[in-house]
This record gives sequence, structure tokens and C-alpha cells, in this order.
Amino acid sequence: MKTEIFDLKTEYDKGLETAAKAIADGKLVGFPTETVYGLGADAMNEEAVRSIYLAKGRPSNNPLIVHIYKFEQLDALVSEVPEKAEKLLRVFWPGPFTAVLNKKPEVNDTVSGGLKTVAVRMPAHAMARELIKRSGKLIAAPSANLSGKPSPTTAQHVIDDFMGKIPVILDGGSADVGLESTVCDLRGDVPIVLRPGGVTAEMIRSVAGDVMISPGVLEELKEGEKALSPGMLYKHYSPKAEVFLAMGGEEKELAGRINILYDKCIKEGRKSEIFCMEASRSLYGERNCRLLGKNAEEIAASLFSELRLADERGVEVVLFEGLSTDGIGLAVMNRMIRAAGFKLI
Ligand code: TXA
Ligand code: MG
Repeated sequence: MKTEIFDLKTEYDKGLETAAKAIADGKLVGFPTETVYGLGADAMNEEAVRSIYLAKGRPSNNPLIVHIYKFEQLDALVSEVPEKAEKLLRVFWPGPFTAVLNKKPEVNDTVSGGLKTVAVRMPAHAMARELIKRSGKLIAAPSANLSGKPSPTTAQHVIDDFMGKIPVILDGGSADVGLESTVCDLRGDVPIVLRPGGVTAEMIRSVAGDVMISPGVLEELKEGEKALSPGMLYKHYSPKAEVFLAMGGEEKELAGRINILYDKCIKEGRKSEIFCMEASRSLYGERNCRLLGKNAEEIAASLFSELRLADERGVEVVLFEGLSTDGIGLAVMNRMIRAAGFKLI
């Protein structure tokens, strides 16, 4: 299949028109959002939605997020919007916030992975909103990566995974947030964060008065334990390198643990790198370091592309320096733990 790539800086109208037509015709489109790039299709066209799962190699019981551009579109998808849910959505939409609500029967089981609920998001990215609007459809879109790989934060990442496999990719530059949206179950009185993201638990609490974090966000679910969000069960964000995460303990002591494992890996002849913050660089001496940023926001924005770059450099071992789970730090740690396959040091 020929893949048409449009740079929206120079081919805004042509790109959006071609992409909107592809969506309306039941085809797949790679497009930018403020979180990560999405792989979109007409949410109400079950055949088109099925082709998303096929293209990604995604398990069919891991449901997709349906993207809308205006509030009224929510009515077509969900059977009711509780008062507290509406309050949160009025604050955090458009933005990196996904609501899980009871679905209408018209929403097909392929999009919802067989669940009675559906996940809905109104992205803030102007081009994503324009694509939804021009297509005249509700757009189901997971992150535009092959299942298991780090999510795409640039059009090049989408090209790397889907060139020749989908008809259209829109290039809207680098994603702002860099991590996927906060997925939040808004059916009950207390919102439950199923997957942390750019809208933080603290922000949700400040509006709703209370918030719960689902088990499985930072812990590995034991066999038989039920994930509230199916996506939390799967191996994720895994580069080819073996990844370890250092968490807990005082800064110098944590760096000490990283250094011991790094030195051991180097002795074994394995190409190793430490992913750390700028402020703690000096704790690692002459060892190979990648600086992810000055704060949790910058780390969030660079994490996925750094994991892809590590693969390109042929890195065999990545050692993450863990950070505080305050604010967006919770989302960063959630992704790091999964990239590390729960291998903590
Ligand atoms: O930022 C984002 O959310 C991006 C962009 C493209 O919008 N999309 C994204 O989609 O990250 P995806 O498919 O990679 O992740 C969707 C997550 C999965 O963990 C899935 O299990 C969960 O949302 N999810 C979807 N529907 C759900 C539902 N009804 N109940 C619980 N979890 C659900
Ligand atoms: Mg994903």
C-alpha cells in the first residue's frame, strides 16, 4: 500500500482533506494529538475499527478511545453523564483526559473490546479536532505504534511502524505532552484513574474533591487479579534493550544502586546507558548518560522518543532513574515501570 505523508505546516488543507476522506471511507490515518500520535478510523464502522487492531497487532479485548471535537458528540456514545463527570469534563476537555462511561448499545463491541463501557476523549490539538470535524465521524484511535512498542511522539515514529501499511500519515510536529492521556472511570461518585497522564490525580482531586488510583498503575497485578483497564495488563513501551528502574531511597543511594548495576553490565560487555535528570548527572561520573530533562514534564515529553533512539543506537541495557510520583511524575513512573517489565532495583 502507498502511504501519503503530509506535513501540515505546508500542506494543511490538502493533508486534512485527504485524511478526512480516508476516515470517511473506512480507512486508517496516523494523526497528531497533544499527547501522542493516534491511529484513527471511523469508530462506528466496525470493519474499519477491526483493521486498527490488525494493523497494530493489538489484542481484541483491549478497547480503544473514541475521539470527539465537541461536547454534544458525547451523546452519541454514552448512555448517561453523571453530574460529577460532566463537571470534570467541562474543566479538562479539550485536553489529555479520557472518560470511561457506560456506552450506548449502538457503540460496537469491537471499539469497546467487549466491555459495557466506552472511553471518550476530546483532544486539544487543533489539527486532531479539525480532522474529526472534517471527517464527519467519531474517530476511534489508539496510539499509533505497533502493539508493545513505545508510543509515537513524532510523525517519524508513525512512519517507522506503519509505512506501507496505512494510506495516510499527517505530520503535525512533536507531541506536547509526550505521554498518553489520563484514563479515568467517571461512572461512580469518586473518579478512578485507570491510567495516569497529563491531567494529574491532584488536578482531578481539586475539581472532584476526591480521586482514587487504580491498583495496577504502579504495581504488577497478580494472576487472577482483574485490571480495571485492560491495557494495564499488557507488556508495554518495551524497547529491544533490557530496562531496569531504580526507585525508592535517597538520591545518592539510588544513584549508587544504578552505578553498581551499570558497572556490572559494562563488565559483561553490554552497551549500557543511564536515563537521568540533568540535576543528578554528576552522580554518575563518567558513565554513559542520557539526560531526559530538568523536570517531570520534560521527562514525560522525551521518554518515548529516547527509548526509540536507544534501540537505534543498539543500546542493550537502559537504567532509569526513578522520580517522585507527584503530578505528572505518576504517569512517567507508570510508563517506566512497564518499560522495565517491573524489574526494579
Ligand atoms: O492520549 C491518548 O489517549 C492516545 C491518543 C491517540 O488519544 N490514545 C491512546 O490509546 O493512548 P491507547 O489505545 O493506546 O490506550 C487506551 C487505553 C488502554 O489502556 C485501554 O485499555 C484503555 O485506554 N481503555 C479504553 N477503553 C476502556 C474502557 N472502556 N474501560 C477501561 N479502559 C479502557
Ligand atoms: Mg497505546
